[in-house]
Amino acid sequence: MTAAVLCFLLFGLVPLVASSPVRDTDNGTVPLVLWHGMGDSCCNPLSMGAIKKMIEGKIPGIYVLSLMIGKSVIEDTENGFFMDVNEQVSMVCKQLAQDPQLKGGYNAMGFSQGGQFLRAVAQRCPTPQMKTLISVGGQQQGVYGLPKCPGESSHICDWIRKALNNGAYSDLVQKHLVQAQYWHDPLQDDLYKKYSLFLADINQERGVNETYRTNLQLLEKFVMVKFLKDTVVDPVDTEWFGFLKTGQSKETETLQDSVLYKEDRLGLAAMDKAKKLVFLSSEGDHLQFTGKWFDENLLPYLR
Ligand SMILES: *[C@@H]1O[C@H](CO)[C@@H](O)[C@H](O)[C@H]1NC(C)=O
Ligand SMILES: *[C@@H]1O[C@H](CO)[C@@H](O)[C@H](O)[C@H]1NC(C)=O
Repeated sequence: MTAAVLCFLLFGLVPLVASSPVRDTDNGTVPLVLWHGMGDSCCNPLSMGAIKKMIEGKIPGIYVLSLMIGKSVIEDTENGFFMDVNEQVSMVCKQLAQDPQLKGGYNAMGFSQGGQFLRAVAQRCPTPQMKTLISVGGQQQGVYGLPKCPGESSHICDWIRKALNNGAYSDLVQKHLVQAQYWHDPLQDDLYKKYSLFLADINQERGVNETYRTNLQLLEKFVMVKFLKDTVVDPVDTEWFGFLKTGQSKETETLQDSVLYKEDRLGLAAMDKAKKLVFLSSEGDHLQFTGKWFDENLLPYLR
């Protein structure tokens, strides 16, 4: 219950887009897989549903798969809060492998937490081949904080903050609270590295899994979108793979300043050199962008 409140607070915002679908028989398009954010679902007509329609309208003939985690929209929404992320990722890997439309490869676009979940798919499941990964406001280095808190429920936020600060790395919380699985506490770096079931694994904190390095570099592009007025994600640097410097909670560092990059534990430095990393920004708050911005910035990567 409280977890659900937290998650809605953090990631319940939904982008608004207008759409006017046109159909065409001309194909030769690259299929697209979407993974929604927390508090959202595959098929919400105001968010993923609208985005799917908009893209189908702009790229006639494209196959767009908006992932449903579970057997219904309700399950899908609940799983975004409570289902072990590693299990979610393996479920998605199976689903993608069984989809005949994706055999020739696909592009992927993840919203908010869907951004880091799809990166895990790229690192763990190279078949079918993900071509371009777009992380829209994704928390690639996790989150540390709960900045947004409506006045009336500030006591709930205080409680949740405390729970995550004290218990995010306990086995029980790790297994059952999605957000804890990408909770990145710079003041408890050793605990994070040791017990984070999801993020520390995909970010090579416990060791270097060469498979992850190899698979991620198979991407043609890795596009990261940061929202310049994001009041939901803390720190916002995480949307470009930066984070707080270890051992304190004020100063941040960029991806390029990080150990992950300097030791090139994940292949990101190599990808940067090969011009595969793309850093984009949008003026708005979390997941807020205009149709014009989408057309100019993201559409070129989907064609
Ligand atoms: C053409 O578009 C349709 C409808 O979206 C899709 O199901 C099909 O797989 C596409 N065919 C090719 C060859 O891309
Ligand atoms: C590295 O990642 C691959 C792909 O997920 C996995 O099969 C393998 O067990 C991992 N190796 C280690 C040492 O964790």
